[in-house]
Amino acid sequence: VRPKPVPTQCVGPDYRSESQKPTAAVSVDVEFDTVTVLPQTPQLIALLSIIRDKDTQRGDFIFYSNRIIRLLVEEGLNHLPTVEHTVTTPVGRPYDGLAFQGKICGVSIMRAGEAMEQGLRECCRSVRIGKILIQRDEETSRPRLFYDKLPEDIASRWVLLLDPMLATGGSAIMAVDVLKSRGVPEERILFLNVLASPEGIRNFATKFPNVRLVTAFVDQGLDDKNYIIPGLGDFGDRYYTR
Ligand code: URA
Repeated sequence: VRPKPVPTQCVGPDYRSESQKPTAAVSVDVEFDTVTVLPQTPQLIALLSIIRDKDTQRGDFIFYSNRIIRLLVEEGLNHLPTVEHTVTTPVGRPYDGLAFQGKICGVSIMRAGEAMEQGLRECCRSVRIGKILIQRDEETSRPRLFYDKLPEDIASRWVLLLDPMLATGGSAIMAVDVLKSRGVPEERILFLNVLASPEGIRNFATKFPNVRLVTAFVDQGLDDKNYIIPGLGDFGDRYYTR
């Protein structure tokens, strides 16, 4: 697959004229209505620029990717159901608001997905978190399930699936198959992702037309080693080791 040309766009608030806004590479457009790409704001583009930079040190990589993860979690939670809920304020007046509905849990695809657990915990107090370990089988080169530990009542929860990088989609597709085999319907799975390739989006969204995917950015494509380009390198290595 030939890499898509990079769309560039003036980035900034609408009240500024085009000439007052800097130009930056923004996310490739996505044709699936189950996929939400975060608004390409100056904040997001600047945060992504830091974590994409090969010279960014581990401490900064962790700090700034945590900020992006927080944006993804907040957006992801908007896709969960709410019900009308009226409260009384301390001055005795009603406020017609909303309340969250339904139980949730997080499921991280190890190891890189574990980096997204804290962001979820910061937004959802005492959230249950499960884990799935998928690795490439050396003999077949296909993804293989090595380990999973999931809440026993997962079939009755909304599941926030966590993996920062969506390259070919092999691991994410296998993870959703595991969730479905435990009774979680596609409609109750929400995949949160920092950076995706167009191939990964296409493979995932075609296979699961009812799973929602929220990503911060869709990049140009994949290189011959299936790294996302321009990408940010190996997320797990940069977050956990370097
Ligand atoms: N996983 C990563 O960490 N980086 C990529 O570019 C692709 C998959």
